[in-house]
Amino acid sequence: MAERDYVLGTHAAELERLGLQHRLWRPRVLEAWRRARLGPGQTVLDVGAGPGYAALDLAEIVGRTGRVLALERSRRFLDALEAAARARGLAQLETRELDLAAGPFGIAGADAAWCRWVLCFVREPRAVVGRIRAALRPGGVAVFHEYVDYGAWAVLPPCPPHARFVARVVESWRADGGDADVARFLPAWLAAGGFALESTRLLAEAIAPDDPLWAWPVAYVETGAERFVELGVMTRAEADELIAAVAAAAAQPATRMITPLVLEVIARAV
Ligand SMILES: C[S@@+](CC[C@H](N)C(=O)[O-])C[C@H]1O[C@@H](n2cnc3c(N)ncnc32)[C@H](O)[C@@H]1O
Repeated sequence: MAERDYVLGTHAAELERLGLQHRLWRPRVLEAWRRARLGPGQTVLDVGAGPGYAALDLAEIVGRTGRVLALERSRRFLDALEAAARARGLAQLETRELDLAAGPFGIAGADAAWCRWVLCFVREPRAVVGRIRAALRPGGVAVFHEYVDYGAWAVLPPCPPHARFVARVVESWRADGGDADVARFLPAWLAAGGFALESTRLLAEAIAPDDPLWAWPVAYVETGAERFVELGVMTRAEADELIAAVAAAAAQPATRMITPLVLEVIARAV
């Protein structure tokens, strides 16, 4: 089967970037899962799992008596996840190669679902929320991390090549059928779609260049610029100018970066 690519790509550099991103976000993710009461023996879905960095952590949390189902469209990402699960002896982790947009997941009775940075890329995110609800048992929990204001991502003082890049990212996702700020709709869709809202929190930081989290947005600037050159959205000169401008900003200790605003939503199936 042909590789099912999407706007960010499924190439090796993106696979690596998703790993870095997960490592940097892991403390916030573990905290969300703790507050949602994820634990041993549960069946948990990772919806749009990518190469499954979160799914691997979930498999350790649910343990041998539990089960993790990683739902993902990209065969290349699933190959990486299956190899990692085998290497770590995580027999409780299963993969399902499926298109979230294609219809029901064919899963029922799950205890929990985790969905991060996926609804912003699908054409009918509300339908995917409905499919997540159908896969959960009553009382099951869904945890989302999705952007609520991507355009808030900014370098201080302003860095024009970076601001242009942010606008292009939002536009490229929209052109591909997504919505960078999909979380603006999420609480209402959940409340109308068989969930009770348990918690909504904003996750955002103002970081200095020596903050370990700095590597997260910078990794996206680098892989995103390469991807835009590949797709013909940016010229090589524009990509080089962007990377140089962000590096120059990072060399100034007083520079700060506002990260794109993420909304965390924890909702319980009623
Ligand atoms: C930015 S990545 C996030 C991956 C993972 N959730 C994480 O947090 O690391 C978005 C993922 O959504 C997947 N995806 C996008 N559209 C999809 C669809 N229609 N069906 C299944 N997966 C999809 C992509 O293949 C990619 O792995």
